[in-house]
Amino acid sequence: GLMGYDPAFLNTANCKSAITFIDGDKGILEYRGYPIEQLAEKSSFLEVAYLLLNGELPSEKELQQFNHLVTHHTYVHENVKSFMDGFRYDAHPMSMVSSTVAALSSFYPDAKNIKDPLSRRIQITRLIAKMPTIAAFSYRHTMGLPYIYPDNDLSYVANFLAMIKRIGTSTYKVHPVLERALDILFILHADHEQNCSTTSVRTVGSSEVDPYSAVSAGIGALYGPLHGGANEAVLRMLRDIGHVSKIPEFIKSVKSGEGEKKLMGFGHRVYKSYDPRAKVIKRVADEVFEVTGKNPLLEIAVELERIALEDEYFVKRKLYPNVDFYSGLIYEAMGFQVEMFPVLFAIPRTVGWCAQWEEMVTDNEQKIARPRQVFTGAPRRDYVPMDKRA
Ligand code: CMC
Repeated sequence: GLMGYDPAFLNTANCKSAITFIDGDKGILEYRGYPIEQLAEKSSFLEVAYLLLNGELPSEKELQQFNHLVTHHTYVHENVKSFMDGFRYDAHPMSMVSSTVAALSSFYPDAKNIKDPLSRRIQITRLIAKMPTIAAFSYRHTMGLPYIYPDNDLSYVANFLAMIKRIGTSTYKVHPVLERALDILFILHADHEQNCSTTSVRTVGSSEVDPYSAVSAGIGALYGPLHGGANEAVLRMLRDIGHVSKIPEFIKSVKSGEGEKKLMGFGHRVYKSYDPRAKVIKRVADEVFEVTGKNPLLEIAVELERIALEDEYFVKRKLYPNVDFYSGLIYEAMGFQVEMFPVLFAIPRTVGWCAQWEEMVTDNEQKIARPRQVFTGAPRRDYVPMDKRA
C-alpha cells in the first residue's frame, strides 16, 4: 500500500495543536498567540501555565485560584520520600525525577480516569505542584542533605529555591533578582510544540495510560544529551575547552567531525535563525551575574558564539545558539550542579506536557500512536536446527 517514509518525523505533522506556534526561519515563538518576549517581560510562570492550559490569560481572581490550587498540592506522600531514599547516593537527579513521577501513578490510581475532565485537572495540578518538590528532593538526595518540605506561603519559584537552599532551621531569603530570573527561565521553557519529549508524552498518552506514566516518558526523553541534557553538555564542553585560547582548536575538531563532536547548545531542528529564547536568556544572564558575580565560563561562551557565528561551517548550516547555550551558565551561577540542569528544564516543561496531553486526550481525531515501517529484514525462511547451523 501507499506509505510515507519519514524517519524522525522531519516532514510529518503528528497532530493538530492550538497551543504553541513556532516560525523557525523568522525565530518566532508564541504561546496561545502571545510572543515569548512579551510573556518573559510581563508575565509570571504560573500565569503562563494557566494560559497554556486554558488558552486565555486568567482574570485576577482566576489567577489567584490557580495559584492557591498549585501551592496547596506541593506536598508529596511520605512514602514518595521513602521511595526516593532508596536511590544510590550518587544517582543522577534526572533519573530520580523520572522514576518518581512514574511512581506517582501508583499513589493516584484515580488518574486512570482520563476521560473525566475534573480528574484530569486534578492530576495536572498535582504534577505541576509536585515537580519542584520532587526535583528539590532529588537535589538534596545527591547532596546528602535532609529534605526540606514546601512552604506554601512562598511563590512557586521561591518555594523551589528554598527547598534547594535552606540549611537547618535558617530562614533562607530568596534574592528577588534570582527569583525573577528563574521565573523567566521557567516561562521560556514551558512549552515548545512537538519536540522529542512532548511527542513522547503524546505517544505514550495515546495508549490512554495515566498522565504520570506519560509525563515520566517525557522526562526520559528530556534526559538525553540532544534534548534537555544539552545544557548540561554545554557546561561540560565549556569546562573542557577551559580557556579562550583553546576555542579555535575546539571549533576545528567540531568541523572535522572527529569523535562526532558537536558544538553543544548550537543548532535546532526548527530554528534556522537565532532562538528567541536564547536572546532573552542572554539578557537575564547579565542581571543574574550582577548579583552572583560573573561565571568565569561566560567569557569562553561569548567568544565561542562570536567565532561560530562568523564561521562558514555554522553559517552555511544555519546553526545558531539555542535555549541551552546560556541557561547552564545561569544555573551554575545560582549554585546548581550540572546534573540538576535537565531537572530545571523538566519542572516548567511539565506544564507544556500536561497541556499537550490534555489536548491530545480530548482530540477526537487522535488514536493510539502506531507508526508503520519499511521492512528491510530477511524474507521468509525455514527454521534451521542447531546442528545444521554454520
Ligand atoms: N555542532 C556542529 N554541527 C552541527 C550541530 C552542532 N551543534 N548541529 C547540527 N550540526 C550539523 C550536522 O552535523 C549536519 O551537518 P551535515 O549537513 O554536514 O551532515 C547539519 O548541521 C544539520 O544538522 P542535523 O543533525 O541534520 O540537524 P537536526 O535537526 O537533526 O538536529 C539538533 C538538531 C538540536 C539535535 C542538533 O543541532 C544538535 O545535536 N545540537 C547540539 C545539541 C543541542 O544543543 N541540543 C539542544 C536543542 S534545543 C533545546 C532542546 O531541545 O532541549
